[in-house]
Amino acid sequence: MPSLIRELRAMQQTAEAIRSAGKRIAVVPTMGSLHEGHLSLIRLAREHADVIVTTIFVNPTQFAPSEDLARYPRNTELDVRLASSAGADHLFVPETEEMYPPIHRTFVEVGELGDILEGKSRPRHFRGVATIVAKLFHLTLPHVAVFGQKDAQQVVVIRRMVEDLNLRVQLVVGPIVREADGLAMSSRNVYLTPTQRAEAAVLHRSLRHAEDMINRGIRDSARIVDAMAGLISDQSSGTIDYISIADASSLKELASLTPRRAALISLAVRFGTTRLIDNVPVIMS
Ligand code: PAJ
Repeated sequence: MPSLIRELRAMQQTAEAIRSAGKRIAVVPTMGSLHEGHLSLIRLAREHADVIVTTIFVNPTQFAPSEDLARYPRNTELDVRLASSAGADHLFVPETEEMYPPIHRTFVEVGELGDILEGKSRPRHFRGVATIVAKLFHLTLPHVAVFGQKDAQQVVVIRRMVEDLNLRVQLVVGPIVREADGLAMSSRNVYLTPTQRAEAAVLHRSLRHAEDMINRGIRDSARIVDAMAGLISDQSSGTIDYISIADASSLKELASLTPRRAALISLAVRFGTTRLIDNVPVIMS
């Protein structure tokens, strides 16, 4: 079984000892309620480091007051077993009170990257994400940090932070792990009713449809977005929050796709009170 570390100073001391022994550390930050998507990142981490630290912390600063912080699924005991079977050596599960004592004031600002796409519906979300990830980096002292493509904007924000703050950590991004019908795995999928769960597979179908259109030579973003929106509203009761075709690194909207320019097709759709996101990176030769 991996060691379970709760205290911040104990985590830092463990990380310092691993580094002194000349070993490489990979961190896999999560909010727990682990599924195959998270576990794939732990396995991927193994390819890049000697010691894997998985962190489990439901970070209050990335939830808006209206969001699901209180009801966010938590199951630490099961998470410890799952993370260990995937190969985690240490599980860092800090307490909220120690992570954010009442005196805590400092945040990492992420500028306009935090205001677009996900940020439009979740105004201070990425400020909270960047802040906790910076804190986790300082506590776990990783050589490598592994994140999932599932949260594509999160990767862009963290990549920007690593460069801007000159952090010495290499980012590795794992592909999206999906259910058999294509729905991207997410801790929030448990909120869906059986009907919503069945309908939600349309998100991936709409992304695949976009890829097909691109393969058939269609370049105009508006046309692709319209087709995706049509598919989603015809085949589900989901309410579209956004469908975006953007430059993969600046996340600025692209009117059309151009060869060799990496783009990201991403979407957010609400099913009742549950908001689901998905994306596909595209690069045309
Ligand atoms: P969480 O939603 O728990 O996700 C933890 C990591 O797992 C993220 O890097 C996310 O992109 C990845 N992930 C989730 N579902 C995935 C899937 N289906 N396939 C592949 N990877 C997947 O993202 C967060 O937590 C938090 O914002 C965090 C970075 C931990 C900061 O609090």
